[in-house]
Amino acid sequence: MRKVYKVAIIGCGRIASLLEDDPLRGKPASHSGAYCAHQKTKIIAGCDIDPDNLKAFGKRWKVTALYGDYRELLSFEKPDIISVTTWTESHAEIVTYAAKSGNVKGIYCEKPIAINLTQAKRMIRACKKHNVAMVVGHERRWDGQYRMIRNMLHSGELGELKSITGYALGASPPKLSRKKSGRGPMFHDGTHLIDLFRFFGGDVESVTGFDERPFGDKCVESTAVGLIRFKNGASGLIIGGGERGYFHFEIDIHTDKARVVLGNHVAELYMAEESKRYTGFTELAKKPFPPLNGHGVNAFVGGVADLIKEIETGERSISSGEDGYKALEVITALYKSAGNGKTPVELPL
Ligand SMILES: NC(=O)c1ccc[n+]([C@@H]2O[C@H](COP(=O)([O-])OP(=O)(O)OC[C@H]3O[C@@H](n4cnc5c(N)ncnc54)[C@H](O)[C@@H]3O)[C@@H](O)[C@H]2O)c1
Repeated sequence: MRKVYKVAIIGCGRIASLLEDDPLRGKPASHSGAYCAHQKTKIIAGCDIDPDNLKAFGKRWKVTALYGDYRELLSFEKPDIISVTTWTESHAEIVTYAAKSGNVKGIYCEKPIAINLTQAKRMIRACKKHNVAMVVGHERRWDGQYRMIRNMLHSGELGELKSITGYALGASPPKLSRKKSGRGPMFHDGTHLIDLFRFFGGDVESVTGFDERPFGDKCVESTAVGLIRFKNGASGLIIGGGERGYFHFEIDIHTDKARVVLGNHVAELYMAEESKRYTGFTELAKKPFPPLNGHGVNAFVGGVADLIKEIETGERSISSGEDGYKALEVITALYKSAGNGKTPVELPL
């Protein structure tokens, strides 16, 4: 008989559940949607400090074991897998407690992994010590298009990586307290982008940061820019920020013979070829985006599958706690450099 893992959701808000009811999004679009779609998982309990969110979650997913305290949930329900989909401030406390609790085998923790590197280290250490698998919700790592381009890059099919440019721009107002709103857009949305820089470009050697804070240092940035030097010699430019009346997420990769543009609304491939406009010139020409050929897994279901694979085989997830830590390390270095007169900050911190 097939093993079915008992799942509990801690933090029953947007990414845990509510986004599933956005009629425009591809599905599954949430942790709960993904667990329902995966054959080996069943949601048995939920926890939220907000009684209304908790009740709505119970009704939406037909779950009756509902708790206001995650410790009680862990003790009474003994789930095999938990999703930690609370606000980022509480990820460390919940992940560390759950890892030590003795029953949990796997944790799907949302991004950013934690609010600082000390917390992130503690989470990784607790999971390692208690043999608990952990994935971090930078879900594009499980998306078919991103995975396929990474495989093509790593196999050499697209040539040698030279540079990556990326945007994570949104509408958040810059007149928000850094402390209260938990850093800024580069932290909240930029984490996805920085994680993808590492996914495609490998480890980062140094970061030079610059930020624009129209309401002073106590408020979040309207724009933060990072110049990235990868260990392999490639370069990166990352631009994050709020105050735009739209959301724009895009990554633009250049190798010595190709260009790939990937984003929330775009997937384009260009290859170098003889110019049709100038004699003796080579230019980039748009090509059909390659078919997904087995890479077409939904990103959230991919996260669940990856977590189960780590539980069952011990093979490290492609979006591990260490990957979450390293994305946070780059963000921390970028803010640090911006605060230090734009001097480059070497990694590891
Ligand atoms: N991967 C993605 O694309 C993505 C998208 C959105 C949010 N996120 C991340 O997911 C996390 C949650 O964001 P959201 O937008 O879903 O927020 P949200 O406010 O919609 O939901 C969070 C829920 O957690 C509950 N909560 C907070 N502290 C709790 C605690 N200690 N115990 C139990 N419940 C608690 C809140 O009451 C709320 O219902 C954040 O870390 C965020 O960065 C990721």
